[in-house]
Amino acid sequence: MSVRRLAEDTVQPAAFAFSKENAAWAEATINKYPKGREQSAIIPLLMRAQEQDGWVTRSAIESIADMLGMPYIRALEVATFYTQFQLKPVGSRAHVQVCGTTPCMLRGAEDLIKVCKKKIAAEPFALNESGTLSWEEVECQGACVNAPMVMIFKDTFEDLTPERLEQIIDLFDAGEKAEVKPGPQADRIYSAPVGGPTTLQTPEPAVKKTARASKAADKKAVSVPPANAAKPKTAADVTNPTLKTPATARKEAAKIAKTEGETVDKSKPAKKPR
Ligand code: FES
Repeated sequence: MSVRRLAEDTVQPAAFAFSKENAAWAEATINKYPKGREQSAIIPLLMRAQEQDGWVTRSAIESIADMLGMPYIRALEVATFYTQFQLKPVGSRAHVQVCGTTPCMLRGAEDLIKVCKKKIAAEPFALNESGTLSWEEVECQGACVNAPMVMIFKDTFEDLTPERLEQIIDLFDAGEKAEVKPGPQADRIYSAPVGGPTTLQTPEPAVKKTARASKAADKKAVSVPPANAAKPKTAADVTNPTLKTPATARKEAAKIAKTEGETVDKSKPAKKPR
């Protein structure tokens, strides 16, 4: 992973403030956490600041640290650790983060980077001519099963071909991101096999029903003594779990023990039938 530093002072704004709507949202978010644990709201607040201003500025980090009563260095640690936070100005319509870790690299990430270089800029973080697009290479984003993939702001776009990435970039640049459905760009549901399931072909509800029915049948077979079962004669016979259910067994054991003069220890539960 590359070293992540804050942008130069020349581009840092002097102050930060949430808009009225975002300030109300931030307060409600902080109140979700127990007293003394408000710092847990650091990630959602930084993300909201990024959504508002397009990137995470030094003043935003410090202002949010003040809101949460935490040292600036702790807030900086979070902002500089996660690649989802942009520490420099990026494309206003799309910042394309191409995963270059091994599974994505083996499945064509290098071709996706070539597309970014051709359509956006030759160097990572450089803006295109109109300032609407930028790109960078990042580490694994957790969607390896659908490699190769890119992340644009909060959404992932998976199972990409260079041609599909070109289309996606064009749509974002044209302000038509609503036309692009995030997630797999191939014929699959989430991370299921392309083209449909290849195992577990039986529909799940049917499996559950069958399994439950056979369990119930097993239970019935164990708990009901056979019609020709030998009648218990002594207390030991009665507590035999193959003959009776625990409650019945205990009652009958007590009855027989009384007539035989034995003592039955009621504190010990009778063995359950298998
Ligand atoms: S390796 Fe690319 S998402 Fe995990």
